[in-house]
Amino acid sequence: MKIIAGNWKMNGTRSGLSEMQTALAGVNTENRVILCVPFTFIDGTTGPAAIGAQDVSEHDHGAFTGQVSATMLAEAGAKYVIVGHSERRMYNGDTNEIVRHKAEMALSAGITPIICVGETAEERDAGKTLEIIESGVRESVPMGNGDVIVAYEPRWAIGAGITPSNDDIATAHKMIADILESMGRGDTPILYGASVKGANAAEIMSIPHVDGVLVGGASLKSDDFIPIITAIK
Ligand code: 13P
Repeated sequence: MKIIAGNWKMNGTRSGLSEMQTALAGVNTENRVILCVPFTFIDGTTGPAAIGAQDVSEHDHGAFTGQVSATMLAEAGAKYVIVGHSERRMYNGDTNEIVRHKAEMALSAGITPIICVGETAEERDAGKTLEIIESGVRESVPMGNGDVIVAYEPRWAIGAGITPSNDDIATAHKMIADILESMGRGDTPILYGASVKGANAAEIMSIPHVDGVLVGGASLKSDDFIPIITAIK
């Protein structure tokens, strides 16, 4: 079984989510499907895809205007939340430490965090890819109990229509798996994300230690998303 997670970012509509759930109901798959949607679409509706959010506050409650807590997300029906997405790290200053706190809040509310790590183009060009991934995992993933998911998203490949080589994905995922094992989290699923589409999903998911994918643009329309879900059954 693979995990196919969509990240709608700041796109879509509530009715579009209903349409997607209806379309997914006709899909024959053993895979776990998750849609991480804007906060206002999380309203307790159910369907074949479990619903997740794209961020959560690192605080429990209080005077944090505009933030949404993990307990609020859980009450609204979110089962997952993306933390540390590269766009949050880039535009909102989320550091590894903040990301870990967010993941801890999610876990304490019974929500599975999808913890993202990945290098920028500058870091890649400076030969720091593995270093950034390693510190990202060690510093962003909480120790202790509670299921988490880790997503490797090379930032330079997001929305760019290009992916790292299969060998580079394999190297990154093997290293992440080894680090998670050393943290007592050997069973953690590791997703690949960045420019996944129907045409490359099966090949990417056949790479060792790739337990699924985190999909941006191609998760918005059922015609693009369903071929990814059925790429490996
Ligand atoms: P794309 O699939 O559009 O490259 O986005 C990937 C992503 O950021 C998923 O979180």
